[in-house]
Amino acid sequence: MNLNVIILAAGAGTRMRSALPKVLHAVGAKPMLEHVVDTARQLDARCIQVVYGHGGGAVQSALAHLDVTWVEQDRQLGTGHAVAQALPHVAAHDTVLVLYGDVPLISVDTLQRVIAAAQDDSLGLLTVALGDPRGYGRILRDMQGNVVRIVEEKDATAEQRQVCEINTGILAASGEKLQKWLTALDNNNAQGEYYLTDIIAMAVRDGVKVVPVAPASVAETLGINNRVQLAEAERYYQRMQVEQLMLQGVTLRDPARCDVRGEVGAGTDIIIDVNVILEGKVSLGSGVRIGANTVIRNTTIGDHVEILENCVIENAVIGQHSRIGPFARIRPDTHLADHVHIGNFVEIKKTGVGQGSKINHLSYVGDATVGRNVNIGAGTITCNYDGANKYQTVIGDNVFVGSDSQLVAPVTIGDGATIGAGSTITRDAPPGELTLSRAPQQSKAGWKRPVKKKDPGSSKG
Ligand code: UD1
Ligand code: CA
Repeated sequence: MNLNVIILAAGAGTRMRSALPKVLHAVGAKPMLEHVVDTARQLDARCIQVVYGHGGGAVQSALAHLDVTWVEQDRQLGTGHAVAQALPHVAAHDTVLVLYGDVPLISVDTLQRVIAAAQDDSLGLLTVALGDPRGYGRILRDMQGNVVRIVEEKDATAEQRQVCEINTGILAASGEKLQKWLTALDNNNAQGEYYLTDIIAMAVRDGVKVVPVAPASVAETLGINNRVQLAEAERYYQRMQVEQLMLQGVTLRDPARCDVRGEVGAGTDIIIDVNVILEGKVSLGSGVRIGANTVIRNTTIGDHVEILENCVIENAVIGQHSRIGPFARIRPDTHLADHVHIGNFVEIKKTGVGQGSKINHLSYVGDATVGRNVNIGAGTITCNYDGANKYQTVIGDNVFVGSDSQLVAPVTIGDGATIGAGSTITRDAPPGELTLSRAPQQSKAGWKRPVKKKDPGSSKG
């Protein structure tokens, strides 16, 4: 079977009240249209076409990385007209699947069943019964229960509006038949549009059976027209993401308070506290614990790492058994080896930290290499920037940096060196020695603290 997928995305999306085209609004940080394309990609389609409209330049440039065929519909004359724009790329023997850029959560499983229902003499139509069918096209059946046509709400009689079974819009049919039916469409209806839905009655007339297919879950067919529905879709999507994590062996203290905005790989026996956001590509080793209010973006975290509360970690690699936070910020290109401790109010950027090293309090370490078993005291700063350029700080193995030191880069601290507290280090410190730069301490015997002079004019004194 040759599958040809047509995704409709040309509608204006007025109800979003947005300068951004509707299909670019995101669910789980991914544009809705990209969700649909990614799902279509899993169906082994010969061709995926996206029908875009006026504001389409923005859609195309935002999603230029998607390998799809872009088809322009320059005037929005209806869903049937939209599908017709894609016909030049449809072969007679193709099975055509029609999807919607604003129905982002549709599943591969449901679509496979719609496709399977479309044969030479049958058409697959995704329908669902809703408690509140308002706004949708209604499915009309005959006395035997066969689907005979779809009536749009605006064209429906009061009696037809009582029908709860609605058209999700998603259907699959033979390319040859679709070609024939679409050419025969007219726009004699309440909206003056070429309705794709009118092909159902044509199919029945041609002896093609309409096979209704039900979705795996109703939420999959949620169409997004406004930001209230966008938020509903987001919640449903997040629920699916965290369920996946839980089934893989992750304990979530509250599944409603962990958001996944990307792809998360996870080992087992992971515990995640509330208000955690995982973004981009995140990999969590087994036994990892993540404290409350933490954001982790594009990061690989080794087994048994403990991340305490309120950390922000981005584009980093964290070795096994390390401990981060609370209140730590790990910035891009940081690579922590195993058993590293990064404590509170510590910022690390573009730095490799060797095994067993500790940077526990109030420090900034950037553009640096830190060896193994190093102890960096509270308040240490690598002065990496002279206002124009950035420079490297190299710290060897077994170094001890006393508190409140400044390491003015470029500078190298040799293996086993000790830096005295409060030093400003501007030249390389030799290995194994104590280096310090500090004004000598002095005490002045008999010195008196000044006292405030009396103001003769003031009675208060
Ligand atoms: C459509 C169906 C309706 C169904 C509902 C499900 C028709 C006539 N009606 O109605 O039976 O219950 O979807 O959500 O098909 N689009 C274009 N070009 C156009 C018009 C629309 O690309 O000229 C795209 C839109 O971007 C959207 C989709 O087609 O992705 C549906 O269009 P919309 O106008 O929202 O149709 P509905 O009135 O919701
Ligand atoms: Ca719609």
